[in-house]
Amino acid sequence: MTINNQPIIWSDSQNREMSPALLDWYDQDMRLLPWRENTDPYRVWVSEIMLQQTQVVTVIPYFHRFLEWFPTIKDLAEAEEDRLLKAWEGLGYYSRVRNMQSAAKDIMVRFNGEMPSNIEDILSLKGIGPYTGGAIGSISYKLVEPAIDGNVMRVYSRLFCLEDDIGEVKSRKIFDEKVRETISQERPGDFNQALMDLGATVCTPTSPKCEICPLKEFCGALSRDQMTDYPVKKKKIKTVPMYYVALAIQNELGEYLLSKRPSDGLLANMWTYPLLEVTKEAYFQIEKDWKNYQLDIKEPNLFDFVAEEDLNLLDGSMMALLKKEKPAVIWQKQPLGEVKHVFSHRKWHILLAKGYKVAEKEFILDQNEYWVKEEDFDSFVFPKPQQKMVGLLDEKRNK
Ligand code: ADE
Ligand code: SF4
Repeated sequence: MTINNQPIIWSDSQNREMSPALLDWYDQDMRLLPWRENTDPYRVWVSEIMLQQTQVVTVIPYFHRFLEWFPTIKDLAEAEEDRLLKAWEGLGYYSRVRNMQSAAKDIMVRFNGEMPSNIEDILSLKGIGPYTGGAIGSISYKLVEPAIDGNVMRVYSRLFCLEDDIGEVKSRKIFDEKVRETISQERPGDFNQALMDLGATVCTPTSPKCEICPLKEFCGALSRDQMTDYPVKKKKIKTVPMYYVALAIQNELGEYLLSKRPSDGLLANMWTYPLLEVTKEAYFQIEKDWKNYQLDIKEPNLFDFVAEEDLNLLDGSMMALLKKEKPAVIWQKQPLGEVKHVFSHRKWHILLAKGYKVAEKEFILDQNEYWVKEEDFDSFVFPKPQQKMVGLLDEKRNK
């Protein structure tokens, strides 16, 4: 959608008067959040990283636990990877916490264990970009730096009727300039946080509450009654679909087979049931075969197994695949179900197959595969798709 409006140019007095109006509102209405209890840069850093892609209410308990487990930058630098990932389990985008640890190590070496207080050094740390750097610098050290995230871009696109696509990198500069023209010189950290609050509670994406907005006198989009035409966002990131069959296999002791993912790539070093990647065609064929097979038997029971002599009722492809992968396993007659999970650039589709190791046959563990008791699952880091699969298994079992 194009609006084709001219952006609004504010007078000098508008530029000057905006931040007091915003700060007055903030002083009355600021949200009491645990990371606002003081301006310690480590706390600000942790909270800002957690708050990327995750909502405030979700973050709060993670924030407390993280500081309990790793009270200082030094503790973070020295943390065991498994414990670090455990602290992040459920927040997703694990590279965020890995980068934090790299940065913490760097701070130990280069800055004597203290977050540096100038913007160039802050921005030199891994995982700290302009947004996070601006937030830490302004909140903890009163540096006059903007902290521009999606919320701030929404507010400013409305205030000034800016039609620059917020998905494009080059728009950043435009927003950066506008925030620099208006930011409070005395209280830059509060100003940035006030904008975050305004975006979260008043200037919301679909129904901004302009009647109670402290900036209503300043707002170009409101004066033109075009609030929801902003921000402009043209492109959508494409997510690539991936298809898997997950193997939930139990042995004679009731233990499950888990596989540790490689140390790089998506969900690095985390644990899942073994996953077989299949093509989209194979995936839908597998689903169909399994359904047809159920039609062939009169009273399909989820917990029945595929008999050797029935293998040919299932299309060869699926069974051939499973047999080849795990020859010492018998499989249930239908998959337990499907799990889907969306990452930033990938969408996983997973059919969950349930099987049991045959006692008499030798089972050869692949590299990175282990038998694990269910009661020990808590000590493994399970990414979201694995958590969903475990949930699915539980659900079926309780039926
Ligand atoms: N979202 C991102 N940073 C925030 C902060 N410091 N306070 C509230 N919400 C936020
Ligand atoms: Fe947002 Fe409305 Fe306030 Fe403008 S007046 S900044 S659109 S809430």
